[in-house]
Amino acid sequence: VRKVVESEKEVAKQLCTLVEHLSNEAIEARGRFTIGLSGGSMAKFLCGGLPSIQTSWDKWLLFFCDERLVPFSNDDSTYKIYQAGLVGKTPLKDEQFVTINPDLEVQAAAKDYEEKIRAKFPDSDWPRFDLLLLGMGPDGHTASLFPGHPLLDEQSVWVAAISDSPKPPPCRVTMTFPVINNAHCCAFAMAGEGKADMVKRILGDGEALPSGMVQPTDGELLWILDKSAASKLSLP
Ligand code: 6PG
Repeated sequence: VRKVVESEKEVAKQLCTLVEHLSNEAIEARGRFTIGLSGGSMAKFLCGGLPSIQTSWDKWLLFFCDERLVPFSNDDSTYKIYQAGLVGKTPLKDEQFVTINPDLEVQAAAKDYEEKIRAKFPDSDWPRFDLLLLGMGPDGHTASLFPGHPLLDEQSVWVAAISDSPKPPPCRVTMTFPVINNAHCCAFAMAGEGKADMVKRILGDGEALPSGMVQPTDGELLWILDKSAASKLSLP
């Protein structure tokens, strides 16, 4: 499903409405809400609007679709941005975030994060998140899965390590496609002219760039775009 809206502000509004709806649906159906967060502009979209949604915050578990291997005090830490943006502004407690251990070496950090996720999905072969929120880089990457990178073919681990990320910082851990595509819902949100070329290549021409490889096997796929990001799509 694609939603093209007027502005970046409207992207944020639509996104938060989606999160509100899916959180209530998940809590009703499964007693909890498991959400995967991305960094970059996604944090801006969410931190503005989430504090005003109606949800059972105590039933939330928050994960990271990818995370940079930097100390939590570092402005590049995605956890730092969400912690500052949501804890204290919503009833969310710090311990509801399932975070990486940034002090480990990147391969160990990926294993450690996988174990932390496994602990929350104990009887699963693959975790089935209620919602994964994904951004798209201008090169078509999503999470920390980059064009042409061997990780695109990773099928055996839930969380993988990357130490040559083209987008700084270089060391990250990332969920892999088997996890991403097992979600109940994957939602992309983006705004701005800078994404228009890639949006056309992926949504218009169907190029199999990483963001185009997000195809939930038994779940919803949503793209929420502002008019600038969608400006090169020949919309009906
Ligand atoms: C990260 C993100 C990354 C991001 C895209 C888009 O931590 O860097 O997870 O995948 O979502 O790079 O970032 P922007 O929305 O800021 O362009």
